[in-house]
Formats: sequence, C-alpha cells, structure tokens
Amino acid sequence: MRILAIESSCDETAAAVVEDGRTVLSSVVASQVEEHKIYGGVVPEVASRRHSEAIVGVVQKAMQDAGCCFADLDAVAVTHAPGLIGALLVGVNFAKGLALSTGLPLVPVHHLRSHIASNYLTFPDLQPPFLCLIVSGGHTHLVEVEDYTRMRILGQTRDDAAGEAFDKAARMMGLPYPGGVHLDVLAEEGDPERFALPNPKVDGCPYDFSFSGLKTAVINLIHRMQQKGESLPAADIAASFRRAVVESLAGRAARAMQDTGAKKLVAAGGVSANRLLRRELEGLCREHGWEYFAPKLCWCGDNAAMVGSQGYYEWLAGHTAGMDLNACARLCLEAPEAL
Ligand code: KG4
Ligand code: ZN
Repeated sequence: MRILAIESSCDETAAAVVEDGRTVLSSVVASQVEEHKIYGGVVPEVASRRHSEAIVGVVQKAMQDAGCCFADLDAVAVTHAPGLIGALLVGVNFAKGLALSTGLPLVPVHHLRSHIASNYLTFPDLQPPFLCLIVSGGHTHLVEVEDYTRMRILGQTRDDAAGEAFDKAARMMGLPYPGGVHLDVLAEEGDPERFALPNPKVDGCPYDFSFSGLKTAVINLIHRMQQKGESLPAADIAASFRRAVVESLAGRAARAMQDTGAKKLVAAGGVSANRLLRRELEGLCREHGWEYFAPKLCWCGDNAAMVGSQGYYEWLAGHTAGMDLNACARLCLEAPEAL
C-alpha cells in the first residue's frame, strides 16, 4: 500500500511516499527556518504563506523521487492537527484537493502520533505495546502506546514544552533559532554540575512535567551575571540546563516504565535528537533490561515520511475522512478520529 503524505503543521513543508508504513520511497522537506530566524521564532502568518508557495513543488518532487504517478498511490495522508492553524490548513486543503481529483482515500494524521511512527521507519520490527516519551517544540507527553492507533496519556507538561524551554534558554544565551540543537552542542563542552537548577514536581501527578520554573531560574542566573558585568560561562550554563531538563524527562519516563511494567521505551519528537537525552535513556534501559528505541536523527524533526507511516496504520484501522475534514490547532492524541 503506497501513501502520499503531507506535513505542514509548523515551519516545514514536507511530502513523502511511504510503502506499507515502513518503507520510505521518497521524503522531501522544505524548511523555513532561515526565514523565521531573524524574528527569533516562527511567525505564523509568514509560515502559512511559505507553505502555500512551497507545497506544489514539494509534492511534485516527492512523487518524482519515488518514481510514482498518482495511479500508483492508494491513499493521501495529511497532518490535520495539532499545530499552527493557518499552516495546517494549507496541507489539509491541498490533500483534500488531491483526494478529490484522484478519488484516493483521505487519511487524517495527528502530528504527535506521526512522531511516534518515526520509530517504525527506524526500526522495521518495532511493534506496540510500548511506552513513548514524546518531546517536541510544542508538546511533552508520556504515552502508553497500546496499539498503533490506541494510546493513553500518562503525563504531560503543565506549562512549557521541553523544546520550547530549550529554545527560550538558548535565545537568552544569544544562540540562533531554533536554539535546542545549538544549546545541545555547546553543552557537550560544559560542566553540568556547575549550576544547581530546579526540577519541580507536580503534586499528585508523578508523570507530569513543568519547565517554566527551570526556564525562569536560568533567565535569572543569566541576568544576575550580566548585571555584575561577568562574562557568561555559556557552556556550563547550557550543560547545567540540559542536565536539569533531561533529568526531569528521564526520571519520569523511568518511573512510568516501572509502574506500568512496560518492556520497551521509545523516544520521539524533535528533542529526541538531544545527545544527552539519548545517552541517558539508553543507559536507563540497559540498567533495567528494557529495550530502547529512538528515531534516526533524520526522522526526529518534522517530516512527512512519519505521516505516511502513521497514515498506513490509521488507514488499516479505518480512520479515513471526507471532504469536510478540517484542521485543528489543538487536539488530544488519544482519539483524534473522534473529531
Ligand atoms: O518535533 P519538532 O521538530 O517540531 C514540533 O513538533 O514542535 O521539534 C522541534 C523542537 C525545537 O524546539 C528544537 O529546538 C528542538 O526540537 N530540538 C532540540 C534538539 N534538536 C531539535 N532540542 C534539544 N536538543 C536537540 N539536539
Ligand atoms: Zn513536530
């Protein structure tokens, strides 16, 4: 079964052709990062316009690279939620137009579910059930993945997402947008023990996260040093901050693994590219005898191949949509088909 998949939930216009949920025949990603860099973050209006300009070329290239014509396809999958509404609408409307003109079924895909599926592309034999730590720019979730399309949220962030916290701290340190990866690289050279930063717990919710206190603590630390005219020990700040975020993520994931008796721990989302997070989760799994999975670096960030993978399993479960499909800025990943 061949699926053409489209992703436009944030600042990447992407298209891919994926076979049977596991084999990537093509994957094209047009990033808008350079455009948003000067503003220090994604400007939603600019993102929608760039998606409109890029989408035809991106889809054409994905079809060409896969050596496909529309007659070779079996379905069109598209990210319909969550994300920037104007950005999502570009992909959703384009996919609807394609489905209408070709007669192919239309498969809506939840963005976070597709991040989970990036692991199916990386590990052809990986199957649910497993526990997944989803860490992206907009979300931080601990999810019990019972089946490809049946999942239950165990915990989530109460405020900032992990990626958002990385990006804000990086911005304070004068690193370019998106700062997560730059902070990660800088942290490799620093002393993670130099500054003690908080790891706040959420009372009664052992799997929930909170990063806003940590963000404020690092901002205050930087301000205090700047006011005293001290030069910033950037690598040590980055390393201490990264350690605090990773401790929070890995600690809760470990507790959830123990409490649920899960055997496999899976990481997903842009922040799953973080070097320390990958090392820590791998170490944890080795220590406890759990299997550990994290996506190949090329599938960590937003792409359409992961949409094609999850789209296959949504299609198998009968989750197709009609021409009234709409985009949704916020939507829980537990039952997106109920929309
Ligand atoms: O999943 P993603 O590509 O987009 C969303 O769905 O949000 O995640 C993007 C986030 C950004 O916040 C980016 O800074 C962060 O992932 N990120 C990282 C690293 N690479 C990307 N954060 C920490 N360390 C990294 N190596
Ligand atoms: Zn994403």
